[in-house]
Amino acid sequence: MVTETEVRRALAGVIDPELRRSIVDLGMVRDLRVADGQVTFTLALTTLACPLRDQLATAARQAALALDGVQAVNITLAEMTAQEKSALNGSKAQEGLAEKLNHVKHVIAVMSGKGGVGKSLVAGLLATSLRRSGYQVGVLDADITGPSIPKMFFPNGARPGASPVAILPAETRTGIRVMSINLLLEAEDQAVIWRGPLISGAIRQFWSDVLWGDLDYLVVDLPPGTSDASLTVLQSLPMSGVVLVTSPQDLSRMVVRKAAQMVTQVEVPLLGLVENMSYFICPDTGKQHEIFGPSRAEQMADWLGVPLLGRLPLDPQIAALCDQGQIETYLSDVFQPIAEQLVEVAPSARKPMLSGM
Ligand SMILES: Nc1ncnc2c1ncn2[C@@H]1O[C@H](COP(=O)(O)OP(=O)(O)O)[C@@H](O)[C@H]1O
Ligand SMILES: [Mg+2]
Repeated sequence: MVTETEVRRALAGVIDPELRRSIVDLGMVRDLRVADGQVTFTLALTTLACPLRDQLATAARQAALALDGVQAVNITLAEMTAQEKSALNGSKAQEGLAEKLNHVKHVIAVMSGKGGVGKSLVAGLLATSLRRSGYQVGVLDADITGPSIPKMFFPNGARPGASPVAILPAETRTGIRVMSINLLLEAEDQAVIWRGPLISGAIRQFWSDVLWGDLDYLVVDLPPGTSDASLTVLQSLPMSGVVLVTSPQDLSRMVVRKAAQMVTQVEVPLLGLVENMSYFICPDTGKQHEIFGPSRAEQMADWLGVPLLGRLPLDPQIAALCDQGQIETYLSDVFQPIAEQLVEVAPSARKPMLSGM
């Protein structure tokens, strides 16, 4: 049986595009009742002549209908009182405040043609290596439906900090600032069943309403492939460039090419390619085995016309550390050069104040 709390939570995912906040936070959802799969509520708008009226009602209806057990949604439209409107306008003034306070020098997104090639792992290791070199680093988890960044960094879970003007990212043990939908959900395994526009809205909010502060690098973990969400990131964030991740099992070169083409089309620099799970070093003999067949990394990089940043081994230790929320303890002499190359190619990188972390 679907509960009022579940419906409220689903409606909280509907963002007013103008005020850039959830319709629940804005107090627009009133008199919510749920009985026998029938959801009824009043949607209070600033004005009934609101041009976004139908769009908001449709998004709210879809969000509720997406829940298991909801058969029908009855929405009554109403207008807010003058007092309520002025309160909302007050909150509007604070919108985008975080964005004004943030100073992010470089935004680097990590992308792949398909899932499971180790994109999140590369994003996590990149953040870890950059932090170790003394940079101020953030990770924006843009994989809204399959977020995996928090699990790599927080063994005991984490919550974002509260501030009256913005969302504060959670901070890892070495001081990496992290924002992910998983930090906002009540249960870590809760599924996010949102349609494209909602997902894009959440990503935009992770940029504009999160108080990232001063960052040298913001690493963005994209969802697999060329979805709306990836496009949102590439088009609405001030991108320095994109790192492509592949694995030797990536049989469909076309899928990788498609991802590369999307990046080029929106005129974002492709910084290079990382081949993950490229080889395995036998712990007994120290011999290197290309267990998924010979590496095609060079060939792939040539074909895409991008530099090969490096090849990562298949390493059971890194998988274990990721599962334990201990990615920051992984010492990789293979990954550090990749991060250093990125610092070189990301334009106008400034040397950090800190060092020797
Ligand atoms: N080089 C590697 N060695 C061992 N395990 C890896 C490696 N790269 C990725 N994995 C594991 O494979 C799984 C998928 O990786 P992930 O980074 O989540 O992929 P993606 O983000 O591309 O879907 C994870 O469990 C991760 O720990
Ligand atoms: Mg991932």
